[in-house]
Amino acid sequence: MTSIWKMIPAAILFAAASMVAIGPAAAEATKNEEGATVAGKGAEFDEDAGKWFLESGAPTYHIKKDGKIDFLTYRGFQRYHSECHVCHGPEGVGSTYAPALAESLKTLSYEDFIGVVASGRIVHQPGGGESVMPALGDNKNVMCYLDGIYTYLKARADGVMPRGRPKSKDPKPKGLGEAENACLEG
Ligand code: HEC
Repeated sequence: MTSIWKMIPAAILFAAASMVAIGPAAAEATKNEEGATVAGKGAEFDEDAGKWFLESGAPTYHIKKDGKIDFLTYRGFQRYHSECHVCHGPEGVGSTYAPALAESLKTLSYEDFIGVVASGRIVHQPGGGESVMPALGDNKNVMCYLDGIYTYLKARADGVMPRGRPKSKDPKPKGLGEAENACLEG
């Protein structure tokens, strides 16, 4: 007799497996040794790039104890509002037309974020309409600033960046300025 008991461990395993799958992508904002808020483990500043990176290789926001944000994330705030806001709403809150990126980035990985923005996405809807995220891979005003747009939206998704214009920011790192210029001219 196949008893119901045999099914229970499977159900528990399934539940455990789905929790593991959700785990790593969930918000992981943490403090580094100086008490600054960053998006995960092992945040280090890369002088050449002028950006903070995590152990995972993804760029991260860096918010000091006094609330001062890194320049890259500030750039992202500016660029988001010139390139994405029109569809995705102010500060990543979404619109009737496009999803709330401050929600999406709770689970969307850095790589998938870059992929969707560069390649776009068309979703056919049941009523026959289409939901279109344009492919922006050839748009330098987006691609040269995409890491900052990512860290800005990630800070919004992790709940560590209040709404509104950031009050104070770090000066622009030399490496970041050079990389931006090279990207825009390249
Ligand atoms: C012309 C309107 C439009 C513009 C401009 C636009 N998007 Fe989108 N975007 C959309 C729509 C619509 C979707 C939903 C596509 C779908 O149904 O999957 C989307 C989806 C996305 C997704 C996937 C979200 C998810 O939950 O899977 C990301 C990431 C994204 N957009 C990022 C951006 C960024 C960053 C910018 C600015 C650089 C931008 N978009 C500009 C319309 C736009």
